[in-house]
Amino acid sequence: MRVPLFEQLVTLYASNPSSYHVPGHKYGTSLSLMEGTNDEQVLLQAYQSVMQLDVTELSMTDDLHGPSGVIEEAQQLAAETFGAEQTFFLVGGSTAGNLAMVLAVCDAGELIIVQRNAHKSVLNGLKLAGARAVFIMPQRELGSGLDVVPSLKQIEEALERYPEAKAVFLTNPSYYGLSVDLEPYAKLVHRYDKILLVDEAHGAHYGLHPRFPRSALQAGADAVVQSTHKTLTALTMGAMLHVQGPRIDRKGLAEALRMVQSSSPSYPIMASLDIARGVIDEACERLFERGIAAADDFQHWVMEESAQYELSSSRVWDGNGLQVQVDPLRVVLRSKTGKHSGFELLKQLESFGCYVEMADVQYVVLLFGMGAETSDVQRLKQALVAIAAAEGVPAAVSTLANESLAYQQSVSEPVLFSRRGTGTDSKTIGVVELSYAEGMLAAEAVIPYPPGIPLLYEGERITADAIAMIKQLVQYGARCQGATDPTMQTITVLRTG
Ligand SMILES: Cc1ncc(COP(=O)(O)O)c(C=O)c1O
Repeated sequence: MRVPLFEQLVTLYASNPSSYHVPGHKYGTSLSLMEGTNDEQVLLQAYQSVMQLDVTELSMTDDLHGPSGVIEEAQQLAAETFGAEQTFFLVGGSTAGNLAMVLAVCDAGELIIVQRNAHKSVLNGLKLAGARAVFIMPQRELGSGLDVVPSLKQIEEALERYPEAKAVFLTNPSYYGLSVDLEPYAKLVHRYDKILLVDEAHGAHYGLHPRFPRSALQAGADAVVQSTHKTLTALTMGAMLHVQGPRIDRKGLAEALRMVQSSSPSYPIMASLDIARGVIDEACERLFERGIAAADDFQHWVMEESAQYELSSSRVWDGNGLQVQVDPLRVVLRSKTGKHSGFELLKQLESFGCYVEMADVQYVVLLFGMGAETSDVQRLKQALVAIAAAEGVPAAVSTLANESLAYQQSVSEPVLFSRRGTGTDSKTIGVVELSYAEGMLAAEAVIPYPPGIPLLYEGERITADAIAMIKQLVQYGARCQGATDPTMQTITVLRTG
């Protein structure tokens, strides 16, 4: 396996170096000063093995922000594997990539067309840039009630209406593993001579197995962010930003990355990206067989043998002409009887030691990683059978959660984002009971987490549907990040609104 960055770190450690530089833990040796029980020592030793790779920019370890050695080589290998012309390693997750893509494309006041249900990092990118965004509503896949990218028609309408737009920003696949093929989108956006940016955080594995949908790069996107840590083997926060073609300003992108990423990027994370790519080069399709088989086995059980649960994917249809693809590694499940909300199911599963990726009012989202085994499937089935057999708390599961953003206009007016936000001046903002906030302008974003997709952003008009959504999410135990009142009984609004 060719893993130049990882090999260099191993070579360095094996050469018994003396460290007179940061990090001060000196390859983890400082931890040997600790005394403790045997168990503690075992844990510390395990941790120490990661610290052996934790170095800084030395002449032989290269520099992420101006690579010319092993990091450059590792990034080039990644570009070849994922089909990019250039790849940037990210140590701050897709979050860093989304911020950088927006910053590279938009200066203050410039306009970008953005899919409304974007991750909060995209909105934060808009804030940092001081950009203006025109939001386009996602399409609803009618069978499952889940959202996918906006239609071509909506995007064309926005491109016609806003010829000054710098780029179109899409999120594909969704957190629920639904996607569409982006080739017609790339063609459309390029016909208008604009840049197509794609948040493919949940699709780092796309294009790597015949069962997976094509990747955004394969479809022709100009810049694509992937969370290598989500579905491949990188450490958490390890992600990649791939670019191709002449449209994106690569120098500007590298500069934006220098702004949003640490000047001391983590070598264990970067090495994990090198290894994640190396493993794919070595084993590629074989790597995914087990996870796909486990997910298939589980889904087959739900469809054929379980009367209490159903899959969102078995409800996906193209009766509305929408060709939706489903990630074979992601299973979106709900109680058929409405006995348990998704949140309730998540809690119950945790009591059986089964930890899922996310829940909403209806669904739980499960990821079958490449390491998934038959025993994982067995454990899950047993837990679900036991949950169904027990007296559950009846919960009237409504479809409201998945109506999420349907209340808004298809193509919004331009919205100006500003890092200073609406401020905290009591003359301009006030706190009202959520129930009375209809028609006012939100002075804070409301972001249920996960999935981290804002239900309301600062400055957005609060509708009755949005209020009902927030109330329902909170009632079912969702956490809203960044809200002044975490219970969401009240909300901060603009007085002028
Ligand atoms: C659609 C989407 N984009 C971006 C991100 C951020 O990714 P990361 O956690 O790698 O920073 C997430 C996180 O879950 C996400 O769901």
